[in-house]
Amino acid sequence: MALILGIESSCDETAAALVESDGTIRAHQLARQEDAHRPYGGVVPEIAARAHVEALGPLIEAALAEAGVTLDDVDAIAATAGPGLIGGVMVGLVTGKALALAAGKPLIAVNHLEGHGLSPRLGDRSLEFPYLLLLVSGGHCQLLLVEGVGAYRRLATTIDDAAGEAFDKTAKLLGLGFPGGPAVEEAARRGNPRAVPLPRPLVGSGEPHFSFAGLKSAVARAVGQHSAEDLAASFQQAVVDCLVDRTRLALQGVRPTALVVAGGVAANSAVRTALESLATEHGLRFVAPPLWLCTDNAAMIAWAGAERFAAGLTDPLDFPARPRWPL
Ligand code: KG4
Ligand code: ZN
Repeated sequence: MALILGIESSCDETAAALVESDGTIRAHQLARQEDAHRPYGGVVPEIAARAHVEALGPLIEAALAEAGVTLDDVDAIAATAGPGLIGGVMVGLVTGKALALAAGKPLIAVNHLEGHGLSPRLGDRSLEFPYLLLLVSGGHCQLLLVEGVGAYRRLATTIDDAAGEAFDKTAKLLGLGFPGGPAVEEAARRGNPRAVPLPRPLVGSGEPHFSFAGLKSAVARAVGQHSAEDLAASFQQAVVDCLVDRTRLALQGVRPTALVVAGGVAANSAVRTALESLATEHGLRFVAPPLWLCTDNAAMIAWAGAERFAAGLTDPLDFPARPRWPL
C-alpha cells in the first residue's frame, strides 16, 4: 500500500490531502479564498498566488497531523503542475518539489484535469475503464473517453466558454455575486425554467462540440425583463439541455462501462439529475463524485498521484509548471 501526499493550488482553493492506494482518504485539508476575491467579482491571480503561499505550509502540516504521519511515511508527493493560474500552480509545484527533495521521495506532477477525471474512481472504487466522462469545470467543458491512467480520448470540447464560466458570468449579470455556480443554482430553485426562451447552442448538431457564449449573451439581453430567479432557472435548464444533448451524441460512438460527470459544475443537482436520466435511458451506470470531490480539492490530486504511482509514473524535479496543459 502506498501513501500519497497531494497538493492543489491551481485556482482559488489551497488544499493538501493524504490518500492511500486503496482509496482510503487519511486526511483532507482545504482553505478557500472566496472572501479575498469577492470584492473584485472574480479570481485575481496575484491575490490568489499570495494566499496560496500563506496557506499551503500550515495545510500540509495539518494534513500530516490529521493522518498521524510524518513525511517519512509518505511514498510519493503529487502536486498539480497545471493547467491553471501560473502563480498559484508554481506555489504548489515548487512546494511539492522542495518536500520531495528534502524527504527523498518521488514527485508526481499531476494534470489538474486528470485529477478531476480520475476522481470518480476515488469516490467509487468499483468504477472501471473505459468510462465516458463529462468534465465540466470553471475552465473546461469536455467529453472524454477515459480508457486508462494517462489514456484519455477527447470526444468534444467547448469552442468558446466553459460551462462553469457561463455560470459565473450569468451570476455576475444577475447580480448574484461570487462564486457564481452555487448562487445561480440557489436562485434557480425559486424560478421557472420555462419562463425565459433562451438558445441551446449546437443542440441537435452533429458536431461534437459545446458552445455557451451565445447563451450568456442572450441572458445579458434578457436582464431587466424577467426576475433573476426565472433567468437563473431558464439559464440552468439551457445549460443542462446542452450538456445532455452533446453527451447523448458522444454516447453513439462509444461503449463505456458508465457515464461519469466530474468538475465543479458536477456539483449542480440539476446537471446530475439530467445526466443520471440519460445514463438510465442508455442502460448505463451513472457515477458522480460526492459534492466536495467535484469542486477543487487535493484528495483528487493525491488519488491521481496514487494511480500514476501504481503505474510507475513519476516525474523529474525540473518538471515545469504548465499554465496551459491539455489532457
Ligand atoms: O472544478 P472547479 O472547482 O475549478 C476549476 O477547475 O475550474 O470548478 C469551478 C466551477 C466554477 O465555475 C463554479 O461556478 C462551478 O464550478 N460550480 C457550479 C456549482 N458549484 C461550482 N456550477 C453550477 N452549479 C454549482 N452548484
Ligand atoms: Zn478544477
